[in-house]
Amino acid sequence: MSVRIAPSILSADFRRLGEDIALCEAGGADWIHVDVMDGHFVPNLTFGLKVIEAARAATTLPVDVHLMVERPEQYLEAYAKAGAQVLTIHAEAAPHLDRQLMHIKALGCRAGVALNPGTPLSAVEEVAHLVDLLLIMTVNPGYGGQSFIPYTVDKVERARFLLDQAGSEAVLQVDGGIGRATIHDCWRAGADCFVAGNAVFGAADPRGEIGALRALCAEAA
Ligand code: DX5
Ligand code: ZN
Repeated sequence: MSVRIAPSILSADFRRLGEDIALCEAGGADWIHVDVMDGHFVPNLTFGLKVIEAARAATTLPVDVHLMVERPEQYLEAYAKAGAQVLTIHAEAAPHLDRQLMHIKALGCRAGVALNPGTPLSAVEEVAHLVDLLLIMTVNPGYGGQSFIPYTVDKVERARFLLDQAGSEAVLQVDGGIGRATIHDCWRAGADCFVAGNAVFGAADPRGEIGALRALCAEAA
């Protein structure tokens, strides 16, 4: 199972976004994670299409867009056009999950579904064979720099089982509070894609931190 590290630019320095993204690329990042928040689905507002376009222009890496918005169906086409290669919507915000996943695929993107810590895994059970990415939130979405919620590790383990049972090769992503102290447990539970904001951009050497996080996945327990 290959390990993907996806730095979240939510914690980047917006005065020098292009340079921070280049730093991630030089450090061996696999994807660039972009957190779109609408101030309704989550209690915080971040950025929209312009930043996706800027990220797209700053890197050749896949741009992984995490839509923490109500009615995500309104934006899928625009975000795909702006350069997203991965589009993840929240199950809590998408009652017509099957339709939205098919829509994302038709736009040529990887179709992702995210689950908040309080949302049961059963919310994606019926579409497990359709998802290209399953995101298990390891904090309540809305802010960078929050503490990892330990009980989510068990859900990661069950999510790995669900994907395997469905014969799915979907990416199993974790997001929130991922850093040196938490990444190994998530990896052991079956996650293979790790979003990290504060851990990367708050490190003395952000470039080196990406490799350090990756190495922790390979280490024996
Ligand atoms: C949380 C966002 C995360 C966030 C992660 O709502 O979805 O992607 O940027 O930040 P850290 O790694 O600092 O918890
Ligand atoms: Zn995110």
